[in-house]
Amino acid sequence: MAKHISPQELQKKLGNVQVSGGLCSYNLAYCEKLAPLINEINDLKAERNAIILAHTYVKPEIVYGVADFTGDSYGLSKDAQRAKADVIVFAAVRFMGETAKILNPGKEVLIPSEFNGCTLADSIRGEDVMKLRERYPQHTFMCYINTSAEVKAHCDVCVTSSNVYTIAEKIPNDKIFFLPDKLMGKNLQNELLRRGVHKEILFSEGSCYVHEQYDPDMIENLRLRYPGLLVVSHPECSPGIIEKSDYIGSTSTMIEYVKESPSSHFLMLTECGLTSRLQVEMPGKTFVGSCTQCRYMKSNTLEGIRDVLRSPKPQDKVEIAPELIHKARRCIDAMFHYVESPATSIAHGS
Ligand code: 13P
Ligand code: SF4
Repeated sequence: MAKHISPQELQKKLGNVQVSGGLCSYNLAYCEKLAPLINEINDLKAERNAIILAHTYVKPEIVYGVADFTGDSYGLSKDAQRAKADVIVFAAVRFMGETAKILNPGKEVLIPSEFNGCTLADSIRGEDVMKLRERYPQHTFMCYINTSAEVKAHCDVCVTSSNVYTIAEKIPNDKIFFLPDKLMGKNLQNELLRRGVHKEILFSEGSCYVHEQYDPDMIENLRLRYPGLLVVSHPECSPGIIEKSDYIGSTSTMIEYVKESPSSHFLMLTECGLTSRLQVEMPGKTFVGSCTQCRYMKSNTLEGIRDVLRSPKPQDKVEIAPELIHKARRCIDAMFHYVESPATSIAHGS
């Protein structure tokens, strides 16, 4: 049996988390409801030889109560690749569960939430990529990890927020079609120019509904109110936000940046789960402004995780046809290749 947590211990851990300006807080009564579920899930994990991967955006009781690995989409895909357990429960969104399945075709991969979309991943289908490839035969097709297995199967290389700029720079082609995020596409164009790299970057029309809504004007107002404020943004934000930010990075590198910084006040322009983690792990720092919640990530619950571990329904299991796994895997492996080797030559072909 796994080690059990008491409501008091949970409250001590999560007591500093303030979501929606304090509307949601981890008081003792709430922790009394959560602790038995956490303990049941940890026992089920041991019984089923299962591990739980959780993206930083999911609820803090998942991140700190039951997750074995937490991080950004790149880190979690590496954790999935190394996984030894028989069962992987992915508390995040569907494309992340699919990535885990592509990397572990022989394992059972379970997704605990049925509301597991993503406005980026849902903005483009495999057949759209096929048409684009016909139109732009000279371009290397680089997809964001926030895409379905089917889309990955039609692309040459996958990227995440932690490596998009470096991989675009390394690709031995000066014509790149990036999909599906138009804001990240514009940010990529700007960053490559800043680095003195001249490539044609085309992109499709998707966007993340969480990150596209931040208004660059509010940054000035907050800087006036909090002298020394550091603005930390995700590359899915608009170019206007990126231009005014002190640091841009993936969810995991944003955490590292705040940890290393001597400053006391930060504006985190990303999903609320990141601020929740910082409030738990860096209680001495102050996070100003309001964050935004991703309705898909936040639809993961302890009850949903318990239920998929107890008796998964067919729709909870990630199933991908072997041929699709094979093609999508090439696209993900190309990303690992670029990240891990300094070489710039890699053969692409769809
Ligand atoms: P990260 O790769 O930074 O975790 O981002 C994933 C995501 O969905 C951001 O909205
Ligand atoms: Fe998709 Fe945006 Fe949610 Fe990330 S925050 S999972 S990009 S909808």
